[in-house]
Amino acid sequence: MKAWGLLVAALWAPAALSAETGWPMLPVSPDLEDKTSLQRGFALYANYCLGCHSLRFQRYERTADDLGVSHEAVLDRVVFTRQKIGEQITTAMSPESAKVWFGAAPPDLTLVSRVRSPEWIYNYLKTFYVDESRPFGVNNKVFENVGMPHALIGLQGVQREACASGAEPCQELAVDPNSGLLTAQQYDQAVYDLVNFLHYVGEPMRLERQRLGIYVLAFLVFFGVFTYLLNREIWKDVH
Ligand code: HEC
Repeated sequence: MKAWGLLVAALWAPAALSAETGWPMLPVSPDLEDKTSLQRGFALYANYCLGCHSLRFQRYERTADDLGVSHEAVLDRVVFTRQKIGEQITTAMSPESAKVWFGAAPPDLTLVSRVRSPEWIYNYLKTFYVDESRPFGVNNKVFENVGMPHALIGLQGVQREACASGAEPCQELAVDPNSGLLTAQQYDQAVYDLVNFLHYVGEPMRLERQRLGIYVLAFLVFFGVFTYLLNREIWKDVH
């Protein structure tokens, strides 16, 4: 019975609301075959996130090779410190000062897409909104009272709650016209690229694992046919 319960829960999941805040989550499906999206995600990450969040379990070199970017281009455009290509992707900010500045040290994000899910990150990056009562002047619909400023505000623009006053909890957000560099559609794409990149970082072996799985299945089918024929051959003489 428990198994049925789990199955029903699994099928039910796509119509998800955020467990923490009840925000209606938009779905997202990462695509690791889309190398240009991953490359854009890497560049966005280096420019807007790496100042605070390290990716300690990932190296520049491996990332460059997996995403099909030359080492020179990565050193040129992504590594802003004096790190070498073989080093881990770490931030220059010390955790002690970060804790003082933000209340919580920015966590390492190597595994965040596995801990939180790509969908959670996608919705998180889309739902920062103006809230003057917070230290950075913004709050978040998926992570209430978050200690992170809206790192992408320059791209998205200033987003506010757009509900008639009194509607609680407010589930509509709107961006002030022309307050950001990107259109809504371009912003969604940028967030998607970031999520895609973090999904890749969470398990760099994923594509290889899937390819290997196909070989294993093909081998089993081939081997199965062979075993069947052999079996028939042997029993033919017995009967
Ligand atoms: C100015 C520093 C800063 C920048 C830049 C920044 N963050 Fe954060 N981020 C934080 C802090 C601090 C927290 C912890 C918030 C808390 O626990 O309240 C956080 C939390 C997060 C979390 C939630 C982690 C978890 O599981 O609790 C995610 C995801 C995240 N950041 C993604 C990003 C991405 C993607 C970018 C780049 C677009 C980015 N951050 C840029 C400071 C920053």
